[in-house]
Formats: sequence, structure tokens, C-alpha cells
Amino acid sequence: MKAVEIKEGIYWTGAIDWAIRDFHGYETPRGTSYNNYLIMDEDITLVDTVKREFVEVMIKNIQGLTDPSKIKNVVVNHIENDHAAGIDTIMKLAPDATVYITEKGRKGLERFFDISRWKMKIVKTGDTLAIGKRTLLFIETPMLHWPDSMMTYVKEQKTLFSQDAFGQHIASEDRFDDEYVSCESISMLEDAVVDYYANIIMPFGGTVKTKIAEIGKLAPEIDMIAPVHGIIWRRDPQKVLRVYMDMAEGKSRLRAAIIYDTMWHSTEHMVMPISQGIKDEQIECKVIKLRATPTSVAIKEFWIARGCLIGTPTLNNSMFPSVAQFLTYLRGLRPRNRMAGAFGSYGWAGGAVRDCYEEFKKMGLELHEPGVQALYRPSPEDDAACYDFGRAFAKRLKEYHEKF
Ligand code: FEO
Repeated sequence: MKAVEIKEGIYWTGAIDWAIRDFHGYETPRGTSYNNYLIMDEDITLVDTVKREFVEVMIKNIQGLTDPSKIKNVVVNHIENDHAAGIDTIMKLAPDATVYITEKGRKGLERFFDISRWKMKIVKTGDTLAIGKRTLLFIETPMLHWPDSMMTYVKEQKTLFSQDAFGQHIASEDRFDDEYVSCESISMLEDAVVDYYANIIMPFGGTVKTKIAEIGKLAPEIDMIAPVHGIIWRRDPQKVLRVYMDMAEGKSRLRAAIIYDTMWHSTEHMVMPISQGIKDEQIECKVIKLRATPTSVAIKEFWIARGCLIGTPTLNNSMFPSVAQFLTYLRGLRPRNRMAGAFGSYGWAGGAVRDCYEEFKKMGLELHEPGVQALYRPSPEDDAACYDFGRAFAKRLKEYHEKF
């Protein structure tokens, strides 16, 4: 691809990663992109770079617009490798450029590069940089999603460079939301936003709320949000802000997810009567088998639903390994405002369901207790108990959902 003008004088100069399916352990079935931007003003300014493998592509895109040695400013909104790995190449091509970065960003960057000869300016929230016809405003967004993170707003063109926030893992010929929606669908785009939020932004819901409020004050007019991954928002950028705010406030669907694994199909057998009980209460129910589903997809399904039931056989007095791995990942994402319960089969001694509840308590989830268990092979009585368990879970879920 070549550079794409996203606003008068502002160009996307990034790269599309069509092939990536595993993004440091995160499933990316649609690929992704590494977006960076070049502002052609009196002082030519580059905003972020790209992943190491795509630096050559970025340089070619920049060369289509200008000689890279003419870059005067380099804004580093975020130092993670997929966005900052190209900065040493840029600083070799434009050694007189000044890097604009947060203090924590500078401290992180010096662990990756020899920055001793680079001109650097530390910026804080509210600092501005005049680059000619345009003024850039910096907004620190620590822990959204790294300590170094910040956003940059072009005042005159109401454009927010938002780094990872509001991004999506999508590889596409389309750069803008309106183009993507007409080629694919609004539901695919929204699904990608939720997927990204659930797996990357979920732990930082409190920060999302604070920072969106701050952005509203410092950048009251936004008509474009340009993240570092995926599609650029220009059709209705306020919509993605609202979607984020809703998720940060704990809104979700009145829906249940059953996430399970099984050894000899006994726990799997329990899924059907439980899901039937849930459905008979007119609650949507999504069933996910862990070893057949990437963890990041299971996390998204957990996040979409107000309540989740975890199914696990007992193995060596505790949870099945894939279930333990899922709950460990989930705990790190610090889920809030969700209800959980557990079920499973066991042989001579249980332990898995008990340990699931211990994990739920650590996460601060609303508990639906007690869980339901079946010895070796579920009997017709066990099936009835599973059905009742699913139904009771759904009833409580309706009440719990009313709180939000
Ligand atoms: Fe896409 Fe935090 O990097």
C-alpha cells in the first residue's frame, strides 16, 4: 500500500499485517495493522512508527511524501514494540528530529535503544507543540494501556491520535470505518472493538472513564479518532467513545456464557441440561469449549455476557489445566460486574468446582453458589440437578443485571 491522506495534510503511513494470527498469544483471525501518521506541516511531524518487520514499508510510504531526513518531530505516543520499533531507523534518517514523549516513555525507550544522542522533550498533559498551521496537544493516558501511554490531538483538525485505545485487530484495504462497514459489516467492526477491549483494555476500565472525561475537556471537538491498529473512526467517532464508556461502566448484555472443558465427556454432558435451564428462562446462552477455542475468544465471550458458568472435570484434585489457564488469564484482566458459577464431574475426589469458586472470589465476581457436581457419569438425577442449576442461575442473573 502507499500513504493515505486521512485529513488534509495528514497521512497514514503504516503497514497491514495480513498474516498474523497470534499476536503475542492473542488470537487475531482478521490480522491487524500498525498505523502511524505523518503530518505535512512547516515542521514535518511523525506520530508513532510500526513493528520491526514493517519498518521498510513505513519508510517507503514516507518517502512517497517527503525525504525522511526532513522529519522535524517524532511523537511517541506508546513505546510497545509494535509501534516504537521503527524509531531508531527514523532517528538515523532524521538525526536532528526531536522526540516528544512522556517521562515514563523515555525511561522505557532507553531500555530498547541507545537514545543518548537523540533530542528529546518530555511532555505532560496539556502541553502543546506548534508545528506550523497546526498545534498538537498532548494528553497523558497512563495505564491505557501502558504506563508510558499518551494521546495526541491536532486542534485545528479535531483529530485524535489515540494509540491502542479505540483500535481493533483488523487487516483491511479500508482505512476508515465507513469504508469497512460498507465492505464488511457494522457487526464485524463492533465485534473487533469488543474483542480488543476485552483482551487488552478490560483491566483499565476506571482509567477509561477518567480519561474519556479528560479528553472531553481538553479536546471537546473530535471528528476523527486515529488509533494504531485497524480502522480509523470518522463516520461517528463519538460512537466508539460511547461504546468504551459503556464497557468501562460495566454495561453488558443479559446473556450467559458456559465456558468448559472435559476429559471423558461427563462435564460436557452437563452443559446441555444447564444451557437448557438458562434458555428456558429466556436468557441467551453461548457455549465455549476451551481446547476448541482460542483463549482470547473465550475471554471476549465472557466479557459480552453478564454471567458465566465454568465447567471443569477434577484432575488431580483441582481444575482441568485448560480451565486453570483460562481463569489465570481472566484474573489478570480484573473483570468487574459479572456473575459466575461452576460445575463439573469428578471421580474419587472433587476439588475443581471448589477451586473455581476460590478463583471467582479472588476476582471479586458475584457468586452463584453452590456449584453442581456429578460423580463419574451424570445420572438422570444429575441431569435434573443441572437443569435446575441453569435455571436458578438465569433467574439470579436477571436480578443481578437490573443493577446496571
Ligand atoms: Fe499495539 Fe500496546 O501496542
